[in-house]
Amino acid sequence: MEYLEIEGGVPLKGKVTISGAKNASFPVLSAALLIKGKMHIKNVPDILDIRHFLEVLKEIGVGVERTESGVMLDTRSEISSKVKQNEKHSLRGTQTLLGALLGRNGSAMLPSLGGCNIGARPIDLHLKGLKLLGVSVDWDSGYLIGKTNKLKGNSIYLDFPSVGATENIIIAAAVSDGETVIENAAKEPEVKNLVDFLNAAGADIKMNGSGIIKIRGVKELHPVDFGIIPDRIEAATFLVMGAATHGDLTLENVHPHDFEPVTMKLKEAGAFAEFPSDNSVRIYAPNPLNAVNIKTMPYPGFPTDAQPQMMALLTTANGSSVIRETIFENRFSAASELVKMGADIKVENNVAFVKGVDSLQGADVAAVDLRGGAALVTAGLTAKGITRVRNVYHIDRGYESIENKLQKVGGRIVRKEDDTV
Ligand code: EPZ
Repeated sequence: MEYLEIEGGVPLKGKVTISGAKNASFPVLSAALLIKGKMHIKNVPDILDIRHFLEVLKEIGVGVERTESGVMLDTRSEISSKVKQNEKHSLRGTQTLLGALLGRNGSAMLPSLGGCNIGARPIDLHLKGLKLLGVSVDWDSGYLIGKTNKLKGNSIYLDFPSVGATENIIIAAAVSDGETVIENAAKEPEVKNLVDFLNAAGADIKMNGSGIIKIRGVKELHPVDFGIIPDRIEAATFLVMGAATHGDLTLENVHPHDFEPVTMKLKEAGAFAEFPSDNSVRIYAPNPLNAVNIKTMPYPGFPTDAQPQMMALLTTANGSSVIRETIFENRFSAASELVKMGADIKVENNVAFVKGVDSLQGADVAAVDLRGGAALVTAGLTAKGITRVRNVYHIDRGYESIENKLQKVGGRIVRKEDDTV
């Protein structure tokens, strides 16, 4: 089993190039199924979850070819509506295949949707929206089965601005009859990237950041080459790592506005941020950082996907921090591992109380989910001594060769094989 071995205490310095967004790639690659043709989707990251997702697309009949800068899709052949059960494919990212297959074939059959074990991950809001568009939903031996004779526009209110539910409704409504209005829709940049893709292909969707999205269905969409936005969560992760190690990092190929809540929180903690260009940000933190309080919220609030990494940084900040996680029920998995490294963290329901200590000590720890794993790497980079982070595959799901990117900015981190486990 692979693990990452990290020697802490080295300030990260230099330039990091951020990859394309995992969570924009899924909905855009799914929505491409609404179109019959060849399309080049650029800046798709080469990470585990995307590799598995591309396998799913191939299995249902999509031509998929990795190019230097992205993925060439060929959606001209018949596409199967059934996504087969596979332990590797239990990824949340396949959720948007539901809306896409309904839009293309009028039917969809998907296995239970997986993802990190950070919460129950229900799909009631997806189903509420799709039913309002004229989809009938059933379950049969572990598969979700959706059918529709005709997708028809409707008004849909989302009890929670679910990213996945918003994306599924947009994809299905794009090729429905009539107009759909989604209220209390998600505003994440990844949703905007999906809307921009569909509009470039001939859709008629208005998303102005108010939480209301208006979709006027069209008969047909045309092939289009398109670029995935930079990954704001990978950017946030490296920003936190740069500040936590008291280094001086410049991130390139980013949209700084997309992760502004994280940049602002790091500045509140005493780090400095500059913007050398529209697509770069520099973070440096020469002095000790101070405790800050965090409450995760839907975009444009502080992103839940950057909360574990921030918790790792706060374990050695001056003072006590309170972290309130409002999006997922089980997103403090890293806390117990950080405590093994000497952190002082108490978790009560969805609140973590972090009391800053002078320093963490390297230890053997295990990642149990993607962003929790990134938090352990962050802690290892700041701890005294050697940290070994096991279950690296969790981290590989969302980060393209994290150790290579860190080595380039001075991080003492190597990937090793432990065949005893
Ligand atoms: C997307 O997950 C992202 N994943 C997550 O990133 C991200 O944390 C999340 O959005 C929130 O920003 C992908 O895009 C593949 P949600 P998603 O639907 O769509 C509840 C990462 O680390 N909910 O916005 O699953 C749900 O239980 C991953 O990259 C319902 O109640 O998130 C949760 O509490 C982790 N009913 C909240 O909404 C539903 O039908 C947010 O879920 C759907 C969701």
